[in-house]
Amino acid sequence: MDSKRNGFSSNVGAILAAAGGAVGLGNIWRFPYMLGQNGGGAFLLVYLLFVFMIGVPLMMTEFVIGRGTQSNVVGAYRKLGTTKRWVFLGVFGIIAAFLIYAFYSVVAGWTLNYIVLSLSGQLSGLEKETVAQVFSDFTQSSFWPALSQFFFIAITGIVISFGVEKGIERVSKVLMPVLFFLLVVMCVRSITLPGSEKGLLFLFKPDFSKINANTLLAALGQSFFSLSLGMGAMVTYGSYIRKQDSLLKTSNWISVCDLLVAILAGIVIFPAVFSFGMNPSAGPELVYVVLPNVFNNMPGGVVFASVFFILLGIAALTSTISLLEIIVAFTVEELNWKRSTSSVIVSFGVFLIGVFCTLSFGPLKDFLIFGRTIFELFDLVTASYIMPIGALLMTIFIGWFTPKEVIKEEISHGDSMKGILFDIYYFIIRYIAPAALLVIIISGFLS
Ligand code: PHE
Repeated sequence: MDSKRNGFSSNVGAILAAAGGAVGLGNIWRFPYMLGQNGGGAFLLVYLLFVFMIGVPLMMTEFVIGRGTQSNVVGAYRKLGTTKRWVFLGVFGIIAAFLIYAFYSVVAGWTLNYIVLSLSGQLSGLEKETVAQVFSDFTQSSFWPALSQFFFIAITGIVISFGVEKGIERVSKVLMPVLFFLLVVMCVRSITLPGSEKGLLFLFKPDFSKINANTLLAALGQSFFSLSLGMGAMVTYGSYIRKQDSLLKTSNWISVCDLLVAILAGIVIFPAVFSFGMNPSAGPELVYVVLPNVFNNMPGGVVFASVFFILLGIAALTSTISLLEIIVAFTVEELNWKRSTSSVIVSFGVFLIGVFCTLSFGPLKDFLIFGRTIFELFDLVTASYIMPIGALLMTIFIGWFTPKEVIKEEISHGDSMKGILFDIYYFIIRYIAPAALLVIIISGFLS
């Protein structure tokens, strides 16, 4: 059965597909507003530290778990765990994928509307207040956002039904280069605006007084969310990586791509925001309300606005693909569902839950749980709690309950992860990562 398992056909394909999963709304929509709300450059610095100190080793670990067991996330923990107990970690991953997909598809759907709005010039020439009004009228209207969400989920389902190589890999190989290209075009536009230095200073100049427990938790949560860690996405994709590929190099490439896109997005957004005197700490509406205003004030704004939202849509699509794959791989391998049937059923399931996230901007906006709307709750619970806690449990499982030799053997396939390099990696996974995760999770709960 294992030998029939499909996978990525090349290392480049694997890197682009996994980078596609990692690069998403997290980089272009979430990263800039998190940075804007958490002290600019100071946040970036902490973020960098988390990506390379904890993110890369964790990503390698997820790849080891996936490639070593040749399984979906539940199967992986079933095969690797000495007792059945660890299977819950896989189930945790499936639940996380479901919750993330449910709220993520809301914002992904918005990109479709905004592509249409900007291409047809409907956003251009509007007053500041009117742009904000368009966004709130649209998100509150329920029908259009829900329809777009449905569309987005359907497109994702179609790609996944084609399988790993013909669906995921093929789409990523085309879309990722397009994404980079469009992003660089946008960057050039933004830094050539008058007064762009202020935005660059905000992005790159750290103000250490802004760092506190909340910033740390926010940066950690953001790094996990952005690298898709702690919930099985990389376990699933890892299971499709060829044995001869280096997991260290693959993880490094993916993390560098992910970081690069986040920083490029920052370079697109902040200089433009400052140049036109807008508010950098606007929150989730930063790219949907602030940016259209920015585009309105620049020559060729209609074109740049359209390019930007197409970019956002592409980034979101390669990520929803990875979210759906986690769940579909599980149903195909553990429950023996057909891939195509599973794509349809799971997509409908996600839509049924996800539509409540859409409605939480409209009719359900006063329905608060712990003071948050359903959408905000799903976002917070997954990025700030489920992913860090999932990662913590994974490091405990791998660092303390799995024989070191098993890890060493799998991680050094196609690689030079032996000797000191392996020892450093193992030390991080066994001590540093769990300790850091524990401190940050607890301080997050206390603050
Ligand atoms: N990493 C994706 C992003 O940055 C989000 C994501 C999280 C995707 C977890 C899959 C799994 O947008």
